[in-house]
Amino acid sequence: MEKIKKTNIIWDKKDLLGLEELSAGEIELILKTAISFKEISERSIKKVPALRGKTIAHLFLEPSTRTRISFELAAKRLSADTIGISGSGSSILKGETMRDTAQNIEAMKVDMIILRHSASGSAHILAKNLKAGVINAGDGCHEHPTQALLDMFTIKEKLGAIKGKKVSIIGDIKHSRVARSNIIGLCKLGAEVTVCAPKTLMPIEIEKMGCKRTYSLEEAMRSADVINVLRLQKERQKKGLLPTIREYIEEYGVTLQKVEKFCKKNIVIMHPGPINRGIEMSQDVADSDKAVILEQVTNGIAIRMAVMFLLSQYKQK
Ligand code: CP
Repeated sequence: MEKIKKTNIIWDKKDLLGLEELSAGEIELILKTAISFKEISERSIKKVPALRGKTIAHLFLEPSTRTRISFELAAKRLSADTIGISGSGSSILKGETMRDTAQNIEAMKVDMIILRHSASGSAHILAKNLKAGVINAGDGCHEHPTQALLDMFTIKEKLGAIKGKKVSIIGDIKHSRVARSNIIGLCKLGAEVTVCAPKTLMPIEIEKMGCKRTYSLEEAMRSADVINVLRLQKERQKKGLLPTIREYIEEYGVTLQKVEKFCKKNIVIMHPGPINRGIEMSQDVADSDKAVILEQVTNGIAIRMAVMFLLSQYKQK
């Protein structure tokens, strides 16, 4: 891990909506802040008083395991009071809008709202209409900033730096908010990013984001220091984007045989989860010592603690 360098960057944002809105310096500030928060989760008493007296609402209107639990644990380890609201347990089912729900939560003097939503741009709508801080925990196909931040933190921890490292993102690039946030963040910090997918799962003009494209898994694996493998969103099958899942596995499934044949010896293998074992990644790769998937999950708490801490420092002008 790189030593923490002194930085002149001051956090002055109420919300974290995406990595598109952040400068390289702001991304680095979050990564540096997370280093000091990581150690707290190693203690027997995993708590600091940084957010004592603050209330954080977790508004998760789309399924989540990792992100929801990670945000909740991060808030609790900072001593914030937390409430969890799901779509099925709220008045959204009776027709209340997301904005009305959030404004009612804010009226109860909640300081920060963490939102997961299936619609792209939903976090931006909340941020515009609330004084409370808003953190995007994944909005449709748009962005998943804390996932990309924890991925970058893990790369830095494993390789010592991000600048100049070659990262291949493999899988359903077209529908992936994780891919978008990773491409944006990694390019801002000077990594060389290649995306790899079948043509039907590759966005047009993806190179405009600053990455390279390839349709060859072998090429994506050969060049990489890191491969980040994305979930094949099986629900897309119904839309005829792939002939069959079997053919996807043959062409793009990451197996131990392909890793041993094409990848560098010290390759770092990542997956944001949830994994479809045996589809985008074989069982033996997911469980191999090259995979850092559970380390990514551990690092997620430190990143989310850092983000919530920095947002809590924001002063309304
Ligand atoms: N990586 C991720 O966002 O996982 P969840 O959908 O379980 O939160």
